[in-house]
Amino acid sequence: MINKLNELEKEALAKIAAAESINEINDIRIYYLGKKGEITNISKGMASLSSEEKPLFGQALNQAKVAIEEAINAAITNMEAQALAAKLAADSIDVTLPGKSFAYGSKHPITRVIDEIKEIFMSMGYEVVEGPQIETDYYNFEALNLPKEHPARDMQDSFYITPETLLRTHTSPVQARTMEQKKGAVPVKVICPGTVYRRDDDATHSPEFHQAEGLVIDENITMADLKGMLLTFARQMFGADREIRLRPSYFPFTEPSAEVDISCFVCGGKGCKLCKDTGWIEILGSGMVHPRVLEMSGYDPEKVRGFAFGIGIERIAMLKYGINDIRALFENDERFLKQF
Ligand code: PHE
Repeated sequence: MINKLNELEKEALAKIAAAESINEINDIRIYYLGKKGEITNISKGMASLSSEEKPLFGQALNQAKVAIEEAINAAITNMEAQALAAKLAADSIDVTLPGKSFAYGSKHPITRVIDEIKEIFMSMGYEVVEGPQIETDYYNFEALNLPKEHPARDMQDSFYITPETLLRTHTSPVQARTMEQKKGAVPVKVICPGTVYRRDDDATHSPEFHQAEGLVIDENITMADLKGMLLTFARQMFGADREIRLRPSYFPFTEPSAEVDISCFVCGGKGCKLCKDTGWIEILGSGMVHPRVLEMSGYDPEKVRGFAFGIGIERIAMLKYGINDIRALFENDERFLKQF
């Protein structure tokens, strides 16, 4: 019987050593050590042994059980470790692979121009202020001397939300809002960049576009101050040898009003494609703040005067970067935006 036992033990250990999975090992355990297993069966023969043989066989039986048990546990531990190692190897990062590159954004040309305009005017002592994009009819038109039914309202085809609210058609309402806030105090010296909306859509007009409004109010402000300020701006934005010229124009909220041109920065004024052979390029609208506008927002036109101007941001960006279709600025095409 002891021989048979030793044989069973050897056979079990060999099978354990050859096993390839934890399932196989569990089957081996049941086959030898289970309730009806080979070792269990052989132990039942103990009853027929003599009292001298019994302890010897008992000892051998225990040793065999322990040996098989230990071999099983060792095999399982080993297999688990191998499985873990394999999983780690599969999941681990290969540090020699090239990394995932991610694209850096760049400033949108409109943001660049707005930032540059802010810089230039801040360096001249202007304060940056903003106003709401959804505006009341009062601030967008009436406070700017454009009463209801005023024909000049047609110059700015608007997106109305209700009869009294609309998407602002220009940044000029920030003039009135600022004056109200300053409550008659001088000087007022603000630059107001922001988004504006009009029912316009072609290669040079977008329904959503941007402006920067300038407003200066003080005692003794004249049109010469306006011209000097705009010359400084033109030179910082488009080059130190730029000249400007003012052409008479009309805005209901300024009197007199002027369209401002800069000397062409491509041909220097000789005439070329960009300036359509005139030597001049229009860049903004401006004028002396209308006395009625001052009055409506709490300033006494007998005591103070002011000037205002409105810069079209897209126009500046298109000129500066040689963009010929305004829509390129709003299409979010990376091939276009990457160039800035
Ligand atoms: N708000 C005018 C426009 O959008 C521009 C402007 C601003 C003109 C300030 C004069 C003074 O056309």
